Amino acid sequence: MKIAMGNDHAGFPLREAICEAIKALGHEVVDFGIQTEEACDYPQVVAPLTHAIAQGECDLGILVCGTGIGMAIAANKVRGIYAARCEECFSARMAREHNAANVLTMGGRTIGPGLAGEVVQAFLTTTPTTEERHVRRQEQVRRIETSQTA
Ligand code: RB5
Repeated sequence: MKIAMGNDHAGFPLREAICEAIKALGHEVVDFGIQTEEACDYPQVVAPLTHAIAQGECDLGILVCGTGIGMAIAANKVRGIYAARCEECFSARMAREHNAANVLTMGGRTIGPGLAGEVVQAFLTTTPTTEERHVRRQEQVRRIETSQTA
């Protein structure tokens, strides 16, 4: 898979561990992140990365800021993007399996590189379930996206 990876300055400390975890699974990293701890505005990273996923140029995305919160809020403004902030493996698996999330967010100031690598692995090795009730709920989410009603 092509995995879009993006970070701001606060996410910079996790960059290496996340890129390594992606490559260790045999996936390609498409890099939207900054390679410095010089301050930048996280929405500037979110926009091109999420558009690449929404347009089918990348399969899944991983975004890292200070807490993972700003990245998740901004990413979820883009139609077709379902971003989940997960900082332990169970949530990362559920985000994929039940919610069909296509973007994982984490915080460079809230999780260490070892656990972050394991969370990335959990996210990338889990596929969305085909169970009817979850597919139905995902469809209801998509309806809110387009019409504001479930
Ligand atoms: C930057 O200081 C920080 O606010 C940003 O990385 C992110 O955590 C926002 O949600």
